[in-house]
Amino acid sequence: MKHATVDAVRLVYRDQGDGLPVLLVHGFPLDHTMWLPVVERLAGRGRFLMPDLRGYGASELGDGAPGWDAESGVPMTRYADDLAAVLDDAAVSGPVLYVGFSMGGYIGWQFARRYPDRLRGLAVIDSRAGADTPEAREMRLKMARHVDEWGAAHVATAMLPKLFAPESLAAGLPAVAQTRSLIAGADTAAIAAAQRGMAGRPDETAMLANLPAPAVFLGGEHDQLTTPEEMRAMASAAGGELTLVPGAGHMAPVENPAAVAEVLGRFIHQLA
Ligand code: MLT
Repeated sequence: MKHATVDAVRLVYRDQGDGLPVLLVHGFPLDHTMWLPVVERLAGRGRFLMPDLRGYGASELGDGAPGWDAESGVPMTRYADDLAAVLDDAAVSGPVLYVGFSMGGYIGWQFARRYPDRLRGLAVIDSRAGADTPEAREMRLKMARHVDEWGAAHVATAMLPKLFAPESLAAGLPAVAQTRSLIAGADTAAIAAAQRGMAGRPDETAMLANLPAPAVFLGGEHDQLTTPEEMRAMASAAGGELTLVPGAGHMAPVENPAAVAEVLGRFIHQLA
């Protein structure tokens, strides 16, 4: 693992392979390890950069660091700037294929706004361009207020049924237990900071018609959080191909990594 330092905050990332740089940005409240089943299937097809976002995995949250505060949380722009710093640290100066899963997709819109020249392509997985509804925003702020007393294990128990397809839960996929322990081990301050940041994120739907690079969209066919209907509307607004991942809920990259790797492999080939 390597690390970049941003305002004395240590941001850790995995960097493996050669070829087109592919930046894989994980969701909430996870870390870079969610990408490993996909990346192992893409070995030899590109250079895979997998950061742990601020506060997750081995990366520091940087309490009091510039660009965010406890009241409004970590904005998507702060995470996007962190990603640019990771690319600088890795000496990646050319454009990348940005792969964003869920919150990683929310960050992707801000990365595209701030660093259009660093974007060669965009793969959006189980995510959305719109802002939260007032109810969704209130739920996030409630979690942000209470997560310290609840504990991250409670968050894991509450989230799992929404993250996975019923079949994945019933089959007891190893990915379910792995995701549970990943969430249960997350830092509650990082959970609160990300929830506040996501609650305040802007509506970027209008951007879909003018993306600075070609885009593809993938969504689990049983995703309840970012539904196939939402994914279809987003892909159609952006004029990009949509793949519904068979058998998967929201966690498509771990529920069906082979299908996700196949689409990404084709896109890498097209862009390289
Ligand atoms: C994620 O998977 O990153 C989250 O479901 C995003 C969200 O809470 O909207």
